Amino acid sequence: MQAYRASVLHFSADPAHHSDAYHWHEDGLLLIADGKVVAAGDYQQFSVQLKAELKGELKIQDYRGKIIMPGFIDTHLHYPQTDMIASPAPGLLPWLEKYTFPTERKFSDPAHAGEVAKFFIDELLRCGTTTAMVYCTVNPVSVDAFFTASETRNLRMVTGKVLMDRNCPEFLQDTAEGGIRDSEELLKKWHKRGRQLYAITPRFAPTSSNAQLQLAGELAQAYPDAYLQTHAAENTDEVAWVKSLFPDSRSYMDVYDKYGMLRPRSMYGHCVWLDDQDRRRMAETQSAAAICPTSNLFLGSGLFDFAGADTAGVPLSLATDVGGGTSFSMLQTMNEAYKVARMATTYLPALRMFYLATLGGARSMQLEGTIGNFVAGAEADFIVLDPQATPLLARRSERTECLEELLFALALLGDDRAIAATYAAGKLVHSRT
Ligand code: GUN
Ligand code: FE
Repeated sequence: MQAYRASVLHFSADPAHHSDAYHWHEDGLLLIADGKVVAAGDYQQFSVQLKAELKGELKIQDYRGKIIMPGFIDTHLHYPQTDMIASPAPGLLPWLEKYTFPTERKFSDPAHAGEVAKFFIDELLRCGTTTAMVYCTVNPVSVDAFFTASETRNLRMVTGKVLMDRNCPEFLQDTAEGGIRDSEELLKKWHKRGRQLYAITPRFAPTSSNAQLQLAGELAQAYPDAYLQTHAAENTDEVAWVKSLFPDSRSYMDVYDKYGMLRPRSMYGHCVWLDDQDRRRMAETQSAAAICPTSNLFLGSGLFDFAGADTAGVPLSLATDVGGGTSFSMLQTMNEAYKVARMATTYLPALRMFYLATLGGARSMQLEGTIGNFVAGAEADFIVLDPQATPLLARRSERTECLEELLFALALLGDDRAIAATYAAGKLVHSRT
């Protein structure tokens, strides 16, 4: 049994729709056993009970002055793009041509893939992200490299082989049947092995033939407990391209719908240029949107419509989209999500942003109860946030007058420096000191 004393924050619902969505224990205690949460609550309430049960043998790790919360969940990013983060280009399509495809070519080398996967995971943990939905490259060795790096540290990660059989350089192309065969082999090898989860990963509609999309949809239906991830309606040039490639489809999202790819455990990156019918279909089918504000601003893709998504009831989560995104930090991602919402005259409270970065992600992935909050039996993936991490953050934090203001300061001023420690399955996997 392990115990941690700090302020404790976690969610049981979306603060946008419920007034009692969060649990805040100013002087709190988190109790862990065998890598799982036993309980989270007020320290005073616990200590009596614990003293009786454990006769004072329990050692309490003292994190007072800091905040313990569930590890962040980043629902869309690309590990092979680590080395090309912050590469300039005038928009998505030129950026893919000039930087992305040449960089992803290198992942046919297992040693290179393994080295990048390890760095990428270290960087996630430094930023407090304990679960991520990750794209590999078209090459199956890139998938083995990533899952091996994740399994070594006992992290709950989701990833899969990119499917791409047209409109890309030949050195990155698979075939409709070959790509699906490789995906199914990798799925059988890795899905639910320890904490690893497989995602069927067509890159986006323009780089898959109708035949490959058809087979990807069939594979997703054959394995309903596996994940599916792709990009959707990110950029207006891309949307126009999809319209010309799929003239019979009502919309971009309708292409995926036609192939049976709208389903629970499907994650659509960006979703900037949707209409109300697309959003209704996503809500009906429990298809989730991964909101990627740093990427959308960096590439000039557009502004996510929070109000439209909420009206329809689309499952929402936050994502970095590294390397189109400009930071591994979910705090930095909240910072830009807040501004994106403001640009559309909507307002995103800090409590909602921390929900989206934890339980919102877990729910979008149908993993509530497993990760994303501190219910009994959940996997003990958690972080220790330090409101005193930098001189400015300390100064602002001292002057905040309520939880919302404190969380807002962390979201707007925080980054990897605010993550004092990261734990996965009850084990320390990153410490800033
Ligand atoms: N659309 C297709 N591929 C990609 C990618 O790698 N990054 C982003 N941001 N959008 C994409
Ligand atoms: Fe992406």
